[in-house]
Amino acid sequence: MSLIKTAADITAMREAGRLAADVLKFIEPHIRVGISTLELDRLAHAYMTEVQGVIPAPLNYHGFPKSICTSVNHVVCHGIPTEKKLLKQGDIINVDITVIKDGYHGDTSKMFLVGDCSVLARRLCKVAQECLYLGIAQVRPGAHLGDIGHAIQTHAEAQRFSVVRDYCGHGIGLGFHEEPQVLHYGRPGTGMELQPGMIFTIEPMINAGSYHTRLLADDWTVVTRDHQLSAQWEHMLLVTESGVEVLTPRTEEDFSFLENAA
Ligand code: MF3
Ligand code: CO
Ligand code: CO
Repeated sequence: MSLIKTAADITAMREAGRLAADVLKFIEPHIRVGISTLELDRLAHAYMTEVQGVIPAPLNYHGFPKSICTSVNHVVCHGIPTEKKLLKQGDIINVDITVIKDGYHGDTSKMFLVGDCSVLARRLCKVAQECLYLGIAQVRPGAHLGDIGHAIQTHAEAQRFSVVRDYCGHGIGLGFHEEPQVLHYGRPGTGMELQPGMIFTIEPMINAGSYHTRLLADDWTVVTRDHQLSAQWEHMLLVTESGVEVLTPRTEEDFSFLENAA
């Protein structure tokens, strides 16, 4: 669909975003030592379909077999829920939720810490969230996509972490993955200029080691080539007349740091 959403599109996307964020709140208390990622998928699937009345977008998307993505430790993204993956003390897990409500997509993800995690794991998750927030802080009419990537890359690399190159954020609406591609690295002032009415995700994947990835034989699971930890946080953003609106906020989040927020 068009890069510039209508007022009716925006109203529907705000609702889709809220519903996706609500699934992350729903799943939070279930993230415990011993639960399988398949059980998390079952719980989220039932909540989405039976409580919210939405469609889980990942299910059958280009053949993806489950309703959510669960990416543990060195898995970068697109982890497939399985009964064989039981969460254990010290794991970090990204849960990525995409719902379809009235045809419109809401897409968001966050990291969860399972029990006591290493100093490195906690720092990686925190820095990856800061990278997302620094990217969001760049969003306003007249800014360029490269400003977002630059802000993320600068922070990640200052912490001696790396930014995954092989996957990116994306426009979103009636389609799951629309134009433009939103790179999480880049140079200020380069790339598409932002205009009011654009909706896209920012979803940096930050690695403890090198940025290189490998795709497993299941054709979905993306892992770090060096098997070091990876962390990702995702929000869906609207470019407003004055700055940005986060379409997938959770109540635990404080966006008062955003000077460009609605
Ligand atoms: N939700 C992911 C994103 O942020 C895409 C998952 S595609 C799937 O773009 F097929 F793996 F679900
Ligand atoms: Co996304
Ligand atoms: Co997502």
